[in-house]
Amino acid sequence: MRSIIVTCALPYANGEIHLGHVASTYLPADIFVRYLRLKGERVVFSCATDDFGTPILIKAEEEGKTPEEYVAYWHERDREDFERFGISFDIFYRTSSEENIKLAQYFFLKLYERNYIYKKEVSQLYCPNCRKFLPDRYVKGTCPYCNAPGQYGDGCEACGKTFSPDELIDASCSICGAKPIYRTSEHFIFKLSEFSERLREWLLGNENLQEDVKNYVLRWIKEGLKDWDITRDIAWGVPIPLPSCEGKVLYGWFDNHIGYISTTIKYVEEEYGVDGKEFWNSSEIYHFIGKDIVYHHYLFLPSMRMGVGEYKLPDFIPTRGHLLLHKHKFSKSRGWYISLRRFMEEFPPDYLRFYLTLITHYDQSDINFELEDFRDKINGELVSNLGNFIHRALTFVWNNFQGRVPSPNGYDGTDLEFKRELEGLGRSVGGEIERNHMDRALRAILDFSKKCNQYFQSKEPWKDKAGSATCINLCSAAVWALSIALEPFMPQSANELSKILSAKIERRWDLLDSPPKLDGLRIGRPSILFRKVDEEKIERMISELGI
Ligand code: 2FM
Ligand code: ZN
Repeated sequence: MRSIIVTCALPYANGEIHLGHVASTYLPADIFVRYLRLKGERVVFSCATDDFGTPILIKAEEEGKTPEEYVAYWHERDREDFERFGISFDIFYRTSSEENIKLAQYFFLKLYERNYIYKKEVSQLYCPNCRKFLPDRYVKGTCPYCNAPGQYGDGCEACGKTFSPDELIDASCSICGAKPIYRTSEHFIFKLSEFSERLREWLLGNENLQEDVKNYVLRWIKEGLKDWDITRDIAWGVPIPLPSCEGKVLYGWFDNHIGYISTTIKYVEEEYGVDGKEFWNSSEIYHFIGKDIVYHHYLFLPSMRMGVGEYKLPDFIPTRGHLLLHKHKFSKSRGWYISLRRFMEEFPPDYLRFYLTLITHYDQSDINFELEDFRDKINGELVSNLGNFIHRALTFVWNNFQGRVPSPNGYDGTDLEFKRELEGLGRSVGGEIERNHMDRALRAILDFSKKCNQYFQSKEPWKDKAGSATCINLCSAAVWALSIALEPFMPQSANELSKILSAKIERRWDLLDSPPKLDGLRIGRPSILFRKVDEEKIERMISELGI
């Protein structure tokens, strides 16, 4: 049995999970995990909220809450959304947990002892009125690159450039509006540059990493890596575990990915009673992410693990592109945005899983979400192709064979060819999932279902009910195979389908290669699994977006 750890980028505990997050990260990871579970592998699927950082502290202050209260609220909302959408985490924890604080401090001390972290006096913006240092979003001003006003100190929303707060033109304190002054503060700096050669070797030696991502990370290394300031003078974060560092915490990107490790270890120690660190080091490790956080996952994360030398590096970092909404970038502030929660108020989660899987490729290209295309794919491919076959086959058993799957009565060439297709389904779909091409895997299911429809049509079972036994037997087996193959993609529908088929049959991916005999199996009354999308709902969503 393989042992596999799958993590997803940790969502900031400060806003709704949106369709972009699920398309690039949570959904592909969940498909992969559900597939591995059906294969009988030992897999741990872990995630957590990313609780620390300046933006979260500022938002909590704006709402008059403590940061603990603030992140607890979002943690719970995210948990509900993920659960409803069928994201089947084994554990959903938090980066502000005791375990993560302890492990992040351990990483810091190890790296410090080994001289991978050094101290430096940094001149920083400081608000004399609030008596606070002003990192990142605590400063507002004009973008030094495009002159857009009202930008925060960590980057410009208009032109997309990132910079440091002191580069802003006409900077002011984002809390009270006062003009900041400069003050020096002692900071800790991680020697990222020292890892350049080791990172290069690791990237070149790891064939599992996607070539396109690797190439641009290698380019960054060639251009020269900058050391990394890992200190923030704020009161919300992992405290720096050294004397005279009161009021200083670690930057959120230092501790958040350590949350992958601390969360997984907590789970396996409590659930399996094994040594968490050993488990981590003897597993295949996958970190699913979106392309906006490549820098952190291909440079910070591996170099910190190399520096500590006790926790295995990832084997795979499946990275996917940004989601566009009707060809334009998502923007919450401009209302060009659909939250997962809002979408699930209108449509079943499985419809969204189906559509997002089909439009999301295993590369860096942007993913384009269009409401009309969603409608067309649901109506045309899910309902007319897949749903149609399943319903036709099951109602035929129900109406013409008193709800019992008939035994076959001889095979002709067409039957045998169809049987071969059926027995090949698990391998073709599974192979694509293993290679992380979830879109192609779902396509393979749809191609199979198309063949099922053609087979049913060509055998014309309605003409000769008695002679149709072989066809209906094989079609029932095909429905059974679909109920397994669909599980990773559309778990709720697959579950309903398998209930109709009877709870007695075993559900294992490997059985797809040699389907069990269903002869004589009594099925439940078929119900319609997929219905066409209501045009009114599409219009409502379109008008909410203002188009
Ligand atoms: O970009 C983000 O949304 C971050 N919260 C992702 C963190 S992933 C990590 F933990 F490595
Ligand atoms: Zn101020």
